[in-house]
Amino acid sequence: MQIVNVSRSGPLQGTITVPADKSITHRAIIFSSLAEGDSRVKNPLRAEDCMRTLSAFRIMGVEVEDAGKDILIKGSGLAGLKEPEDVIDCGNSGTTARLLCGLLSGQPFFSVLTGDASLRQRPMDRVTAPLSSMGAKFSGRNRGKLLPMAVQGVSSLKAIRYVSPVPSAQVKTAVLLAGLFCDGVTEVVEPGKSRDHTERMLPAYGAGLEIEGLSVRLSGRQGLRGMDITVPGDISSAAFFIVAALILPGSEVLIENVGVNPTRTGILDILKNMGGSVGILNRREVSGEPVADIHVRHSPLKGVTIEGDLVPRAIDEFPAICVAAALADGETRISGVSELRVKESDRIASMAEGLRSMGVDVDESPDGMVISGQERLLPGVFESRGDHRIAMAMAVAALKADGESKIENAGCIATSYPGFWDSLRSLQGIG
Ligand code: S3P
Repeated sequence: MQIVNVSRSGPLQGTITVPADKSITHRAIIFSSLAEGDSRVKNPLRAEDCMRTLSAFRIMGVEVEDAGKDILIKGSGLAGLKEPEDVIDCGNSGTTARLLCGLLSGQPFFSVLTGDASLRQRPMDRVTAPLSSMGAKFSGRNRGKLLPMAVQGVSSLKAIRYVSPVPSAQVKTAVLLAGLFCDGVTEVVEPGKSRDHTERMLPAYGAGLEIEGLSVRLSGRQGLRGMDITVPGDISSAAFFIVAALILPGSEVLIENVGVNPTRTGILDILKNMGGSVGILNRREVSGEPVADIHVRHSPLKGVTIEGDLVPRAIDEFPAICVAAALADGETRISGVSELRVKESDRIASMAEGLRSMGVDVDESPDGMVISGQERLLPGVFESRGDHRIAMAMAVAALKADGESKIENAGCIATSYPGFWDSLRSLQGIG
């Protein structure tokens, strides 16, 4: 188990780039694998989660060249995947498992998905329920809710209109992927807008869709064409250094080339509401996604209320937001975040436990928390629960604690941000 000691830090200063976007990399690998012809994924995220998706396609017969900077994928076409000879191990990646459930539903073969101890506890019925009604057959642990899960797909699925009870890009994408293998029109309606990378990318690969408010409609049997795609930096990784720069006096940081898709920028709105100096510079578009440089300066923060539509737009950033709240003036009230209980760990419980051990007053409810901000944090020993974003959030909090803290089980950071400690050292001027 990797244990990292983290001491109180001086200001963070300088310019960094963060690793490529995880959600976009997963989708680029999937759509390129299903396309006719060659695709080149430029600046992919080479972290454990996305490599799980890549290996899954390799074992289904897709030819991949991953030697240089880019990943080259020779697509197999919609009907070209082969039955995997072995179990597909999705590791820690919920996106791999749930998106593959959608795709495998439309394959006329048998496959089995599994994952690590965290993923084997995460609900799969949110995707298997709609996919079963399209005609795929799943059998998994706990009456079909948990991995390991066997999937028997069919080559002709039934198109459905699915009204999802949760705003979830994984559910939306799983159903749309299955929709590619239907004769009619598949529709997904969400209760709130989740990240829209799938809707941006599918038309670029040649599969048109219609978007109307919270509904997305896709006609089945549209072939995909291989293409080149460039992945921007991940705002979910940038979040940790944005918060670190805000809380450490004297800090001024520029994070270059970050994806600023409006379905992902809730964190910027929240931190600006808290009084944070966060500027978005040099806006541009890269492969259909908005991209910018983010400039952050240390700022006194104040407590805010976070609820409603902001929640899905910041869903992966709550661990970092909790750290900002712990050091803000006044209370931060967060509600409508019950989804955090089924992430890589129960993130409400993980952050409440971590911050309480630093002397912060945290009130937990089933779907939220109230955090009372304060000026000082106590050092401590934190167990990440195998959750990369908890490990990074507690590391950021530890930069502000009065003494040395320990982050236990810190190896999980490689799930999304293999160079996290190097980025930190470079901003501390010791890299
Ligand atoms: C993701 C969607 C989100 C997010 C996850 C990545 C995706 O999950 O938390 O890290 O790439 O589609 P939900 O769809 O469960 O909200």
